[in-house]
Amino acid sequence: MKVLVINGPNLNLLGLREPQYYGRETYADLCEKIRRHAEKTGVEVAFFQSNHEGAIVDEIQAAYRVYDGIVINPAAYTHTSVAILDAFKSVQIPAVEVHISDLSKRESFRQFSYLRDYCLASIIGHGTNGYCEALDLLAEKLK
Ligand code: DQA
Repeated sequence: MKVLVINGPNLNLLGLREPQYYGRETYADLCEKIRRHAEKTGVEVAFFQSNHEGAIVDEIQAAYRVYDGIVINPAAYTHTSVAILDAFKSVQIPAVEVHISDLSKRESFRQFSYLRDYCLASIIGHGTNGYCEALDLLAEKLK
């Protein structure tokens, strides 16, 4: 099983940005953690991070017939992007949404997610462990 892990804007600055919400692990640490977890569960993973909405749309389109599932943290695009939702609706790749911070305790503009209804699940506020949980969930649903 092949899973693509997509991270949206500013997640390349993990470790530096607002550690009270996102912790001290860097983006490289995050990828390493996911890679190790995926190895244990026999899932093949690839990573993509971009600060650009169109680049994320391109990556989702390119995933068609290449990946069995996608784990995505769309970051700020969660709350704004119809284009990312439409890309998923076009390719119909099963996806799980992850948010590192607990959105329910944050600003009102973070409460809405365009992707939530499309995704098999949304894992919110479990820190970076949420990505590993998302992988497990996809592996379970896709087997
Ligand atoms: C985030 C939450 C978003 O509201 C924010 O814009 C992010 C990260 C999270 O992982 O908690 O960049 O998706």
